[in-house]
Amino acid sequence: MIGPAFLQAQAQTMSTTSSSAMPPGIERSSFGRLPDGREVDCYRITNDNGIEMRVINYGGIIVSLKTPDRTGRMDDIVLGFDSIGDYLSDTYRQANPYFGALIGRYGNRIANGRFTLDGETYHLPTNDGPNTLHGGDVGFNQRLWHVEPFSSAEGRGLVLTYTSPDGEQGFPGRLSTRVSYTLTDDNELAIDYRARTTRATPVNLTQHSYFNLKGEGSTSVLDHELMINASAYTPIDETLIPTGEIADVSGTPFDFRQPTAIGARMGQKNTQLAYAKGYDHNFVLSKTPGQGDLPTLAARVIEPRSGRVLEVATTEPGLQFYSGNFLDGSLTGKSGRPYTHRSGLALETQHFPDSPNQPNFPSTILKPDKTYHSQTVYRFSTTASENQPHAD
Ligand code: BGC
Repeated sequence: MIGPAFLQAQAQTMSTTSSSAMPPGIERSSFGRLPDGREVDCYRITNDNGIEMRVINYGGIIVSLKTPDRTGRMDDIVLGFDSIGDYLSDTYRQANPYFGALIGRYGNRIANGRFTLDGETYHLPTNDGPNTLHGGDVGFNQRLWHVEPFSSAEGRGLVLTYTSPDGEQGFPGRLSTRVSYTLTDDNELAIDYRARTTRATPVNLTQHSYFNLKGEGSTSVLDHELMINASAYTPIDETLIPTGEIADVSGTPFDFRQPTAIGARMGQKNTQLAYAKGYDHNFVLSKTPGQGDLPTLAARVIEPRSGRVLEVATTEPGLQFYSGNFLDGSLTGKSGRPYTHRSGLALETQHFPDSPNQPNFPSTILKPDKTYHSQTVYRFSTTASENQPHAD
């Protein structure tokens, strides 16, 4: 079952390793250098079942993730590149897809690059039409994180830390951020986010992996079957900013409470789908009663042919489902195949977009006397046969 209680205890029990000694199951290699000469490291982490994840310290990017299909064949199920140059290229920066990266300080959009807090108005760089997307011009996805590999009773992984100076990208407060990635032997990738600030500030951290459960570089994800545990979503305007409404999904293409092929309703005449050129919406997650602060099931994706299943559980109130609408074939991935339209999907656990300007949304303001904490678990499994639904 998703929702390991160990995440709470993790900070206390893990043993980290610095310098050149690596815990068993983790290897480090060079991923190249940044233009300023700083070295980019790549960490290869494997679990006892052969699942293999590679992460770089630049942006905390998950550059590859290999999982078995129902026959045991391993494929890389996330979009990404093999060298740092590809993540730094002009083509990549123009497309700005944020493949596999940690997103901060504020995942998703802030309207008009502006918010008011305690009577003061703050201005952020606008990098998505009139709005600020994923933390501004230089978000956490472009920072070099400090990385400590660890091995604990629950699994192997990395603790990534980054301290964002007061005023960075226009945000108030010095923000100390700590994210851990744990790959467990239960085939889960558990992500734990914590942050502290010196001044009140909005924070909304997330992970931006794009999945294609057939293997990256394959055809579109329209055939993937998706369940989202949400009976409401936040409709958007033409610049993808929420209108403030919390709308019922019933009778709309946004009702994914029963597993539905992503492409099944994509062609419907619908203003929301037209604004986003597909799905690019925040879902208001239904929470399982009695689960307390533990992550609860947010979404399940099944790819019928390979049998791969991805489940997402989170403590966050929202989930941005993005169907890769802006992928257009201009980027070529690790396999040498182009990332064509809708050939990857992102399921970003988060607070709602533009919360600093939306009084009726759950608050994203972190105060100096509090610790920001959220947890998300991605779980990888398979179905036994093409016609057999996934068993809980
Ligand atoms: C946003 C999309 C955006 C994508 C890549 C997603 O989180 O919702 O609109 O295109 O990130 O930047």
